[in-house]
Amino acid sequence: MAGGRGTRLSPFTKVINKHLLPVGKYPMIYWPLLRLQEAKVTNVCIVTSEESIPAMKEMIEALPLEKLSCRFVPQAEPLGIADGILQAEPFVKNDKIVVLLGDNVFTDSLHQAVEQFIQSGEGAKVFVKEVSDPERYGVVEIDDRGNVLNIEEKPLKPKTNLCATGIYLYDNKVFDYIRRLSFSTRGEMEVTDLNRQYLEEGKLTVQRLESFWIDAGTIASLNKANSYMFNPSE
Ligand code: G1P
Repeated sequence: MAGGRGTRLSPFTKVINKHLLPVGKYPMIYWPLLRLQEAKVTNVCIVTSEESIPAMKEMIEALPLEKLSCRFVPQAEPLGIADGILQAEPFVKNDKIVVLLGDNVFTDSLHQAVEQFIQSGEGAKVFVKEVSDPERYGVVEIDDRGNVLNIEEKPLKPKTNLCATGIYLYDNKVFDYIRRLSFSTRGEMEVTDLNRQYLEEGKLTVQRLESFWIDAGTIASLNKANSYMFNPSE
């Protein structure tokens, strides 16, 4: 997913899609694409605004990601992550899908989780990470056995510090679930509302990320993502 207005990275995003801003030696979107390549996911839909497609295409074709076949799919309006996922429906057929937000920079390999999900998984899986500022994110509540109790988008008073990252695995029912969604107060089709439907069906699971993860969508976090890429040990 490489849509959105990128307002938190203004003024850069007035002239460039945020996913093309540098993180380390490469544009931000390189890192989630690298994780897809590592997980042996080869068919990729990059969902972005119509006007971003030419630059996005040129940039991605210049990256060392030989094993990926990328298709560029326009999202007519920035109506949220769930709306973005729906744009990929014509290319998915009956497969399960991995959804990565293009501003999520992380180092855990997804290979094993993707393999398991292909073999026996159903429902949806969200990768989670403990953070110090959960009010910025989707927030997950789990019980002692790791079962999901609740998921909320940017709660004013988060019940936990467990962030729902922008890393998701879905079965093929995802598109039907998205069609049932309505717009949130910020005018978007929220991925958290999508995930809550899976939760209500008893089909939402979570998996913790072990290593570095950041949503690089603000000036401060973009800076942190760059610091990490240049000095991973710090
Ligand atoms: C989005 C999701 C949120 C998630 C975050 C992770 O937030 O809505 O649930 O925790 O990505 O990067 P947004 O970046 O749209 O504010």
